[in-house]
Amino acid sequence: MRVSTFLSFAAIAGGALSQLSSTLQLVTENFGENPTNTPFYIYVPTSVTSNPAVIVGAHWCTGSGPDFFSGTQYARYADTYGYIVIYPSANRSSKCWDVASNATLTHNGGSDSLAIVNMVKWTLNRYNGDANRVFITGMSSGGMMTQVMMGAYPDIFKAGSAWAGVPYGCFAGPTEWNNDCSTGVLHKTAQEWGDDVRRAYPGYTGIRPKLQIWHGTLDAALSYNNVAESNKMWSNIFGISFNRNETNTPIPNYTKMIYGDGTKYVAYSAQGVEHNIPIRDLDVLEWFGIYNPSSTSTTTTASRTTTTSSRTTSATTTATTTRSTTASTTTTTARTTTQSTTSRTTTTSASTGTVGQWGQCGGINYTGPTECSGGWKCTKLNDYYWQCLQ
Ligand SMILES: *[C@@H]1O[C@H](CO)[C@@H](O)[C@H](O)[C@H]1NC(C)=O
Ligand SMILES: *[C@@H]1O[C@H](CO)[C@@H](O)[C@H](O)[C@H]1NC(C)=O
Ligand SMILES: *[C@@H]1O[C@H](CO)[C@@H](O)[C@H](O)[C@H]1NC(C)=O
Ligand SMILES: *[C@@H]1O[C@H](CO)[C@@H](O)[C@H](O)[C@H]1NC(C)=O
Ligand SMILES: *[C@@H]1O[C@H](CO)[C@@H](O)[C@H](O)[C@H]1NC(C)=O
Repeated sequence: MRVSTFLSFAAIAGGALSQLSSTLQLVTENFGENPTNTPFYIYVPTSVTSNPAVIVGAHWCTGSGPDFFSGTQYARYADTYGYIVIYPSANRSSKCWDVASNATLTHNGGSDSLAIVNMVKWTLNRYNGDANRVFITGMSSGGMMTQVMMGAYPDIFKAGSAWAGVPYGCFAGPTEWNNDCSTGVLHKTAQEWGDDVRRAYPGYTGIRPKLQIWHGTLDAALSYNNVAESNKMWSNIFGISFNRNETNTPIPNYTKMIYGDGTKYVAYSAQGVEHNIPIRDLDVLEWFGIYNPSSTSTTTTASRTTTTSSRTTSATTTATTTRSTTASTTTTTARTTTQSTTSRTTTTSASTGTVGQWGQCGGINYTGPTECSGGWKCTKLNDYYWQCLQ
């Protein structure tokens, strides 16, 4: 294949990314139908194995593929474990994924989900990837997209790890944002949720990908109520029921809710955690069967850290990165926040105080503080949700 058509990003100096064996690349050759013109970034480590696993990393709203690359540790661990990471970049003004349209929610229906699946197929073909080890993880909008993929493409993905997302199809509807779902007032029975998933790919009888979800109890962007909805959905799909809780797992104040024998579906409830739940990369890689804590060196175990800090600082580093634009006219802005000048809909009795990084700071019927701490900007994502962003 013609790697000359790739656009390379300069490595980010100073951070962990500068120690990577390879660089993030934008795939500019035709990789199949791409209904939403979604840019396709890929990280192939120099240590890539002969039959590598493929992981899709789906970013949050206002983010991008390069943001997810620089804000998580998956590329660094790719160097260690030899897998490939795909970092798609949502091509819409909100920089959210389409998790609402019938097209995206339907097997081979089109939109973002099909675009990402075609990135996976191209990668499997190009790098002799292992079709039995194709995974997806994502945060917020990417967490929602992860569940979309579990429903619409159970034949492609073997496992998912969804962070601060919502059930498959919970956002279904004519608008990009679904307030009933995000605020947690959308409830269905287990049977109804299960039927939604089964309709995504009628006639599919193969194995369903296993799924883990992670969600903070204080999530103001995507209500924690969605954990219960998700639990109903996937216990119905797998035909399993709640088994037991493991408290303080994997860290204090997190509870692991185990369904069935815990190999198909688990939900982590993070007590006291807001929307910006710190991603635990190694726990995800363990779920995908890539990382085995009992057979790794103490060095790796000791470095099991979360990536909150790198994610919250990624916007700064990304902004100062010089991008090479020689190979293509594509100009994907790493992080463009659509700061709106229209007034935020808040009540006048708004509480005092400031909102932390990534917290909600405005939106219809929001009554909390509207000032962000640390010099961050209160940025409109949609009518219902303003978020403190850098
Ligand atoms: C996003 O989609 C639009 C419309 O399909 C397209 O013109 C544009 O090139 C796409 N952006 C990128 C970065 O590919
Ligand atoms: C959803 O999309 C699929 C595939 O394009 C189509 O067959 C189906 O009729 C659509 N359903 C609705 C409710 O529009
Ligand atoms: C299991 O943990 C969840 C999350 O903390 C909690 O809501 C639920 O009540 C627990 N269930 C039992 C049976 O303890
Ligand atoms: C766990 O939650 C309690 C009560 O909300 C809090 O006081 C404590 O600091 C939390 N522990 C950790 C490790 O976050
Ligand atoms: C806002 O609150 C009012 C009063 O409770 C309610 O009638 C309205 O439906 C809410 N709007 C939205 C979009 O939730």
